[in-house]
Amino acid sequence: MKTILLPLLIGLMLVGCSSSPSLSNSSSLYQELNGQSGLERLVDAFIQEIAGDEQIFHYFAKSNVDRFREGFITHLCDVSDGPCEYQGDNMIDIHTGMKINEADFNRVVELLINAMEAEGIPYRTQNKLLARLAPLRPEIIHR
Ligand code: HEM
Repeated sequence: MKTILLPLLIGLMLVGCSSSPSLSNSSSLYQELNGQSGLERLVDAFIQEIAGDEQIFHYFAKSNVDRFREGFITHLCDVSDGPCEYQGDNMIDIHTGMKINEADFNRVVELLINAMEAEGIPYRTQNKLLARLAPLRPEIIHR
């Protein structure tokens, strides 16, 4: 009897595990980033990072902060599968003429990571967002 029961029990446990919704599979990246209010806090922290960074701030010296904030929030919402459609200019058009090099691109990524850290966003979620932004790199540097 025992020899039949044990495999059956293990089998049932495995089915139970695979069918129970796990947080990381069932929620979108947008939800993991705490939705719209989470993105707003994240972008505010990111803007603070940029404002305090000598290497990067000069790029934004003549930018309209409110416009950048709104556009960046909507873009992140779109990229993280949230309920937004970014309708601003594409990444190439926006960054053309800025002549951004790898070092400055990497620095901006670092500032975003600092902002995510400041907001207490888990490491795994940070990496998911970075993985979605990384493919945009060639649209942004050397333009
Ligand atoms: C994956 C990386 C990046 C993403 C996803 C990104 C995305 C964006 C977006 C969505 C906007 C437009 C906001 C709006 O609607 O006005 C924007 C604007 C801007 N970005 Fe980026 N960006 C990235 C990297 C960088 C880097 C590395 C720099 C400079 C070192 C930079 C400098 C700027 C500046 C200066 C503006 C404002 C332009 C203006 O004043 O109109 N970006 N970016």
